[in-house]
Amino acid sequence: MHARPAVEVSGLNVKIGGKSILKNVNLKVPEGTITSIMGPSGSGKTTLLRVVNRLIDLIDDVEVSGAVKVFGNSVLEMDPYDVRKTMGMVFQIPNPFPHLSIYDNVAIGAKINGIARNKKELDEIVKWALIKAMLWDEVKDRLKDPPWRLSGGQQQRLCLARALALKPKLLLLDEPTANIDPVNTIKMEDSLRSLRDEGITIVMVTHMPHQAVRLSDYIIMLYDGSVVEEGPTGEIAINPRHEVTRRFLRGEI
Ligand SMILES: Nc1ncnc2c1ncn2[C@@H]1O[C@H](COP(=O)(O)OP(=O)(O)OP(=O)(O)O)[C@@H](O)[C@H]1O
Ligand SMILES: [Mg+2]
Repeated sequence: MHARPAVEVSGLNVKIGGKSILKNVNLKVPEGTITSIMGPSGSGKTTLLRVVNRLIDLIDDVEVSGAVKVFGNSVLEMDPYDVRKTMGMVFQIPNPFPHLSIYDNVAIGAKINGIARNKKELDEIVKWALIKAMLWDEVKDRLKDPPWRLSGGQQQRLCLARALALKPKLLLLDEPTANIDPVNTIKMEDSLRSLRDEGITIVMVTHMPHQAVRLSDYIIMLYDGSVVEEGPTGEIAINPRHEVTRRFLRGEI
C-alpha cells in the first residue's frame, strides 16, 4: 500500500485527569482505504478518533501532545470547527436530530455550509447521500417523517447519509454497527465498500475482529493506549506478528 497517508499521527500522547490514555501513538491511514482501528474495550480507540476530529476538546482536564495530520493539515493547530467540517462522523449509537424530518436530517449540514445553492441542488444532494447510504429505497416515500419512525439500523444509515451530505473525503466511524442487526450491518458494510471505491477514506473503530478482517484493507491494532501492530489486512489476518493481535483475532481478549 503506497498511497499517501490520509491521516498521519506522530508521537501522540493523551492524558485525561493525569492518566495516560494514548502513549506515543504513531500510525498512518493510507488514503482511499477502509482502515480498522481494532482493539479491546478501553484500549483508546474512541479517544484516538476524538483527537482526529477534535471532540477531545470537549473533555475536561485533558493534555494532548504530538502531531496529527489529515491530508497534510495539522488538526491540532486548526480551529476545531474547521477540522470537523472536513470529515464525516458516525457514532456507535444512532443520533439523528429527533425534531427534524428524515429529509432535513440529511439536508441540514449541506444547507448550513452552503454546499447546496438552491432547493434543486439540495434535493439532489439528499437523494445522492441516501442512495450512497443504501437507505433511499426505504425512505423515498416518507422523507417528511420523523427519524424515530425508522428502525435502529435505518437510523444509523440516516446518520451516515447526514455525514455524506457534506461530501467529506474522510469518514470516521466509531463502532457503527455495534447496535444494529446483521441485515443492517451488511447494508452498512456494503455502503462503506462502495464509498471506499469512490475514493473516500474510511477509518472505522471496531472491537469485532471478524468485521475488521471482512471489511478493511488496512488494520491498526491498539492495546492499552499503544499501537502494537499495523499493516494490510491480508498480512495481519494471516500472519500477525504480535501475540496480542494473535490472541485478539482468536477472540481470547
Ligand atoms: N472523558 C473521559 N474521562 C475520563 N476517562 C476517560 C474519558 N474518556 C476515556 N477515558 C478513559 O480512557 C480509556 C480509553 O477509553 P476509550 O473510550 O478511548 O476506549 P475504547 O477503546 O473506545 O473502548 P470501547 O471499546 O469500550 O469503546 C479508558 O480507560 C477510559 O476510561
Ligand atoms: Mg469506544
